[in-house]
Amino acid sequence: MVRSKLEMEGERIVLRKLMPSDASDIYENLRDKDMVKWTLNIPWPYRKRDAMKFVRKARYKMKKRSGYAFGIVLKETGRVIGVVDLIRVDWKNKNAELGYWLGKKYWGRGLTTEAVKLMLKFAFERLKLHMVYATLFEENIASRRVLEKAGFKLEGVMRECRFKYGKWHNELRFSMLRSEYKQLYKKALSSRRKN
Ligand SMILES: CC(C)(COP(=O)(O)OP(=O)(O)OC[C@H]1O[C@@H](n2cnc3c(N)ncnc32)[C@H](O)[C@@H]1OP(=O)(O)O)[C@@H](O)C(=O)NCCC(=O)NCCS
Repeated sequence: MVRSKLEMEGERIVLRKLMPSDASDIYENLRDKDMVKWTLNIPWPYRKRDAMKFVRKARYKMKKRSGYAFGIVLKETGRVIGVVDLIRVDWKNKNAELGYWLGKKYWGRGLTTEAVKLMLKFAFERLKLHMVYATLFEENIASRRVLEKAGFKLEGVMRECRFKYGKWHNELRFSMLRSEYKQLYKKALSSRRKN
């Protein structure tokens, strides 16, 4: 259910625009080294001021419509436990890159998959994008599963195009087209239309 323009509600989580006061939750969840094991853009060691800068930039990008970062709020506690975002929004070609992370103590409960599905609804139904893609380290099994469970298709392997831990790694690229979203999520769409 879409609660307001920039808030989406799922079963266990809500996606909402980040507030400056979310920086401490973001910091608490991102300071664990396992969070950056297979990521590219999260600084390490992670400091409170990195979280503040991230929120500030996210709010600016949303205003400029060049990126959309939402806090993943656990309904049970009302706290931000992760982030899902669309970056590199290309309005000419109507596509964007999806990214996400979730605090370690919440892993394995399907919460990121729930957040990604809400984000897809936002990307295809609100922003009217044509395609959403995601890139990841081949070693990031959990991230790959999230994309597969949400219905993304593997586009290909970018061989040894990432350098981390002193060696080269393959990058995988997954995507979902608007037509595939409609096909996969049409039940949700048609039941909403009836309501
Ligand atoms: C990737 C990440 C967001 C997944 O979050 P999550 O909430 O645990 O994801 P979900 O519970 O929705 O799904 C994870 C799936 O991966 C599976 N999985 C996790 N680790 C696995 C492993 N080592 N081998 C096989 N499957 C694994 C889980 O079992 C689950 O699949 P299932 O539902 O079929 O059992 C989380 O691990 C994270 O934040 N990692 C650090 C940041 C990151 O890597 N972000 C992505 C960058 S591309």
